Amino acid sequence: MTIESEHQLDALKRICQIVATILKKMLERVEPGLTTLALDQYGQELFDYYGARSAPRLTYNFPGTTCISINEEAAHGIPGARVIQPGDLVNIDVSGELNGFFGDTGGTVVVPPDTALKRRLVYSTQMALKAAMSQARAGQPIREIGRAIEQTAKKKGFRILRNLCSHGVGLGLHEEPKEILPYYDPRDRRVLTQGMVITIEPFLSTRSTYVSEASDGWTLLGEKGNLSAQFEHTMVITEKEPLILTQAF
Ligand code: CO
Ligand code: CO
Repeated sequence: MTIESEHQLDALKRICQIVATILKKMLERVEPGLTTLALDQYGQELFDYYGARSAPRLTYNFPGTTCISINEEAAHGIPGARVIQPGDLVNIDVSGELNGFFGDTGGTVVVPPDTALKRRLVYSTQMALKAAMSQARAGQPIREIGRAIEQTAKKKGFRILRNLCSHGVGLGLHEEPKEILPYYDPRDRRVLTQGMVITIEPFLSTRSTYVSEASDGWTLLGEKGNLSAQFEHTMVITEKEPLILTQAF
């Protein structure tokens, strides 16, 4: 969507702050011995508390409130019986709807004990998001987002999951501009415009460059032994720095 009024901005801010707060609280709760289902149920309690709804469930009938993906699982992991283990890399993606407006955010943590590689992967993914956001302003080609992500990954010695994209958001979970690629594509002639609402969500990885769908029909998997991290914000494009909406209360 493109923001056209203060009312729209306020409504979008509200749901974005809610999903950011739910993400923060869920990430804080991650610990060994907890099942991803129990973690997701905590997420649902928080959605109920704030009066919001899970966007993937609402939009795609996803069998969970949030997506929880561990280690070789990159995205869209279904909450279930999997037990969080020491050393796991846990990604949680929280997207929600309130009064017709949608916000989308995600983050990754390492369950102690961590390693230098895992720490670096998480940190580098945060850097890639930051670098991409610094390119995201009105008048700038959309492909500069991908260029920034790709360059950061390369500089830090990681790969990118090339078939996981950032996207427009706001009145739906996935809107135009769709498929904002995580790498530079000179054929992409689209331009960012004032008030446009998008997410940026780089996935950096240790081995894989593509993910494929698991037999459960949802989970997106890298190859065996691959590790990936994702961070995601919803933001409004301006002539300067983007206005990041997914900040916790
Ligand atoms: Co997301
Ligand atoms: Co997203």
